[in-house]
Amino acid sequence: MSERLKVLVTGAGGLIGSAIVAELSKHFDIIAHVGRGRNGYRGNNAFAILSYDFSKDAEEFVNLVLRRWGPPWAVVLSHGIYEEGGVEDVSTENLLRVLRINLISNLVIASRLGAVMDEGVIVMLTDVVARRRPWLYRSLRPSLAYLVSKAGLDYAVAWLAKELGPGVRVVGIAPGWVRSNRMKETHMREASESPLGRPVEPEEVARTVAWVIREARHLTGIVIELSGGL
Ligand SMILES: NC(=O)c1ccc[n+]([C@@H]2O[C@H](COP(=O)([O-])OP(=O)(O)OC[C@H]3O[C@@H](n4cnc5c(N)ncnc54)[C@H](OP(=O)(O)O)[C@@H]3O)[C@@H](O)[C@H]2O)c1
Repeated sequence: MSERLKVLVTGAGGLIGSAIVAELSKHFDIIAHVGRGRNGYRGNNAFAILSYDFSKDAEEFVNLVLRRWGPPWAVVLSHGIYEEGGVEDVSTENLLRVLRINLISNLVIASRLGAVMDEGVIVMLTDVVARRRPWLYRSLRPSLAYLVSKAGLDYAVAWLAKELGPGVRVVGIAPGWVRSNRMKETHMREASESPLGRPVEPEEVARTVAWVIREARHLTGIVIELSGGL
């Protein structure tokens, strides 16, 4: 049986999630959550892999984690969907679907696991656009559902930190442009016009998450922007 502390990483098959697993697995046993299999976890450095679709109730996911491994020492919530859209795309179905995956599952997992963790840290991935005007990205048109889901997470960080502290710290990470092969030329141009002059690397997000978990024992209730100065 391993003596290393356990860290649950959701969205571990994604761009940022896989970089987080690669970084954190140097120090912790990683319980890697993968979603609907589209971005199945491909690394070999996870202690365990768990598949779950957050279109379903996240309570069941929490129960599964607790039954199999007990409370983890840290939780990194990196799952989510990005959607574009205008007012014509707003519907009850759309709002409920995106909020369920991006917001409600995060709130349920953070609250339920945080309540049974004696000590540790919860990190949530939000988006710098939720802290600015909705048209921050000139070449993107994030949907209302996406924006509201991320704004909700942004707001929840402080509430969760107060409820779960001082034992459990809660920190948000708000990236802006993150380098990936999904970025179009217009996206790259926009990122190159930011004060940083380039997109942030997924590995830089991962190293910040590792710093928050391992070293920044004084940080809670705040959201760190990794936006290149946007
Ligand atoms: N990349 C960026 O530029 C950027 C910028 C700002 C904020 N962020 C935020 O950072 C986080 C990670 O982003 P990323 O770029 O790594 O995203 P990504 O590459 O698209 O990965 C997202 C992950 O979420 C999982 N997921 C999606 N829908 C799910 C569902 N219904 N149930 C369970 N899992 C689901 C996906 O798994 P499956 O596909 O297998 O379901 C995937 O592993 C997200 O919260 C995102 O909003 C990213």
